[in-house]
Amino acid sequence: MANLSLRGIVREFGPLRVIHGIDLDVAQGEFVVFVGPSGCGKSTLLRMIAGLDRPDGGDVLIDGVRVNERRAAERGLAMVFQSYALYPHMTVRQNLAFGLENQRMAQAEIDRRIGDAARMLQIEHLLQRKPGQLSGGQRQRVAIGRTVTREPGIFLFDEPLSNLDAELRVQMRVELSALHKRLKATMIYVTHDQTEAMTMADRIVVLRGGRVEQAGSPLELYNRPANKFVAGFIGSPRMNFLDAVTREGRNVVVDDMPPLAVPAAAETSDGEPVTLGVRPEHLGFVETAGLPGTVDIVEQMGGESYVYVTLANGARLTVRRPGQTALSTGDAVRICIEGAAHLFSRAEGEPAIAPRVRA
Ligand SMILES: Nc1ncnc2c1ncn2[C@@H]1O[C@H](COP(=O)(O)OP(=O)(O)O)[C@@H](O)[C@H]1O
Ligand SMILES: [Mg+2]
Repeated sequence: MANLSLRGIVREFGPLRVIHGIDLDVAQGEFVVFVGPSGCGKSTLLRMIAGLDRPDGGDVLIDGVRVNERRAAERGLAMVFQSYALYPHMTVRQNLAFGLENQRMAQAEIDRRIGDAARMLQIEHLLQRKPGQLSGGQRQRVAIGRTVTREPGIFLFDEPLSNLDAELRVQMRVELSALHKRLKATMIYVTHDQTEAMTMADRIVVLRGGRVEQAGSPLELYNRPANKFVAGFIGSPRMNFLDAVTREGRNVVVDDMPPLAVPAAAETSDGEPVTLGVRPEHLGFVETAGLPGTVDIVEQMGGESYVYVTLANGARLTVRRPGQTALSTGDAVRICIEGAAHLFSRAEGEPAIAPRVRA
């Protein structure tokens, strides 16, 4: 197990700077997820940690030692990619043994490591098969097994589940979390999927355009997003955003609709243009006042319901309610805030007034 530090990491491809000076410390045993939209630099950053690519500026430190010039094989890391290449002509056991045999490891030690990894990943019964005889999920488990047998100080994963079907992804998510708990290993996991980030991470690092937008625990990001981008990226369905203007006494007005009471930590001033952000689960329905609108579509999930509403000013909102709803298309509704409200400054997308979060 090892810790990792990034100091002012910069990467440029020709004239294009894609990583803009990233600082980050990953503690020993921590599960850190890099999340962000496609093209934001997640893979580039991970490859520089792995030693598959070199930063143009800044330092990578493992256990406090600068490793910029060290080759991938000398960094004590193991990486799992989205497209995992298993040798098709070798059995699973041979695939798992290959890298270790290359290091001239003693056979007894190889057998022990394969036995441990196979048990942990429940692939013992597959050891004599060839990759072509395995399902996608089983192959992915073998690819992970190959990193486990190397007993690295840090595990690196680059979107390892994105080729799997939805059900298998959920299952593998749980298995990877369990693996992390068992090994107590340092893991860095890259994904564009905020659900994977929320469910697996000790700490999430949200990236955009080669910069860190926010780093924190899943609930810190959910409850106190540092800006509108993070607010919109974390949480599913996505946070609702409405242009609004503040009124004194913790109120906002959206166009000429009735004022909305916002649970904010501080008093609101009068006349400040803001973007009001409210998560679908923090909206509710009221009889009077509230924002008037019409129900477009209702999705009944059984355990919860999504109600899609168009407001009188044409803005669209998603409301998520526990259980089942009697509402249907065309119903007139009035919407209020029943949880946290986030007020972002319209210009920078930074919080204008901190939300008050229910304990
Ligand atoms: N070898 C390369 N040459 C030129 N541009 C690259 C190269 N690798 C990545 N990029 C660019 O760097 C940016 C970040 O890419 P990448 O790290 O792959 O993003 P992500 O993994 O978050 O989707 C993108 O704009 C991509 O086009
Ligand atoms: Mg990538």
